[in-house]
Amino acid sequence: MAVDLLLGLQWGDEGKGKIVDVLTSNYNIIARFQGGPNAGHTLVFNGMKHVLHTIPSGIFHESAKNLVGNGVVIDPVIFKKELDKLEEQNVDYRKSLLISRKAHLILPTHRLLDAASETAKGKAKIGSTLKGIGPTYMDKTGRNGIRVGDLELKDWKDKYRALANKHEAMIAFYDVKIDYNLEELETEFFNAVETLKSLTFIDSEEYIYQAQKNGESILAEGAQGSLLDIDFGTYPFVTSSNTTAAGACTGLGIAPNKIGDVFGIFKAYTTRVGSGPFPTELFDEDGARMAKVGHEFGATTGRARRCGWLDLVALKYACQVNGVTKLMMMKADVLSGFKSLKVCTAYNYQGKEITHLPYNIEAHNVSPIYTDFKGWKEDLTAMEDISTIPNELNTYIDFLEKELDIPITLVSVGPDRKQTIFR
Ligand code: GDP
Ligand code: IMO
Ligand code: MG
Repeated sequence: MAVDLLLGLQWGDEGKGKIVDVLTSNYNIIARFQGGPNAGHTLVFNGMKHVLHTIPSGIFHESAKNLVGNGVVIDPVIFKKELDKLEEQNVDYRKSLLISRKAHLILPTHRLLDAASETAKGKAKIGSTLKGIGPTYMDKTGRNGIRVGDLELKDWKDKYRALANKHEAMIAFYDVKIDYNLEELETEFFNAVETLKSLTFIDSEEYIYQAQKNGESILAEGAQGSLLDIDFGTYPFVTSSNTTAAGACTGLGIAPNKIGDVFGIFKAYTTRVGSGPFPTELFDEDGARMAKVGHEFGATTGRARRCGWLDLVALKYACQVNGVTKLMMMKADVLSGFKSLKVCTAYNYQGKEITHLPYNIEAHNVSPIYTDFKGWKEDLTAMEDISTIPNELNTYIDFLEKELDIPITLVSVGPDRKQTIFR
């Protein structure tokens, strides 16, 4: 059976966690394929809010297996905290949670290296979540990393020590002051590793292969967003993994010809957290209103998210590189009450009008060209049927659908599971 993918089309935080949770009842397996605890995926149901960082968003459904794939990087300390929270809520994850032996581990010194690198960059910093993502993927591609499967070897602590020593030398090389107590960090780390070792480690590509052969349905859950992709994002202001569809092939071992639907999730406007270019960013009352109504604060770091109008040039690009087959529009409710709305339909690029995403979208190169839409007043948050949504919202959706030439199959009108309208 084909594997469906669900991924973010903007700069992350599109609402992936919510929709994976909504769709989980249709799948046997939910599998994360990249990223790590830089992600924060929020689920709201039965009056409770849950934020997941590494654990797939299908974990609250007893029927589904949840796989942390080989492309993911795991911080045992954060992982343990996530497990503790699940335990508090009586979620029985022991049978349903599976971890790839090939997933790489984030060490305490990876986090310190992240901090040293960002501090050394000064004003040019990426705005990283400081979870050690970049340094861990560097060790992976540099062929120095420690993997989950290594924890089953007797001498893994020797390997750990050698790598941590090297990291300490690297931290010293950065000419910045980072305060840390490695002994304390290591006590916490080794303790968390024991918890991790009590879970089920598997050869995940074989598991995925057999599951497909047996007709089981699989949904691959992306983290971050397409514009944060290491190759196709706004480099260097990106994360260190392939967040796009190809990442699901390498991050789980899915053959490209086994991919079914690609669900592309986008907010009805745009947000970004951290540094980097953002052509449609707003610095006025409209932006402040989006931030306030949309509660635009990072689920991982609590940082304020930058807000702006929907960027169709960037969205089209993301649909292209991912081969999106179905679109899902999130947070439509946040746009209620705006007199008029804007959508960026082209860029003015060095004096010329263009409709593709160029190499450099920094403000000195690019300014957005907008199409205006009439707003609507109605509160959408209690609406359940697509026939009840305001005409102005229908016009907005129809326009996007036509421009992108991909059906918008779902409109989200609030954070709760139930506030989801299928179309
Ligand atoms: P993810 O990283 O893509 O899973 O998204 P986040 O969880 O980081 O951010 C999405 C935020 O928007 C969370 O606080 C969600 O609870 C919330 N959210 C999701 N969908 C909607 C929606 O349709 N309307 C509103 N108002 N909030 C939503
Ligand atoms: P989810 O899965 C939004 C951003 C950071 C920073 C850049 C690099 O919740 O959508 P990193 O920690 O990877 O070194 O940070 O990427 N970033 C995210 N922004 N949502 C995320 O994940 C993000 N994960 C990383 O803010 O700009
Ligand atoms: Mg998030």
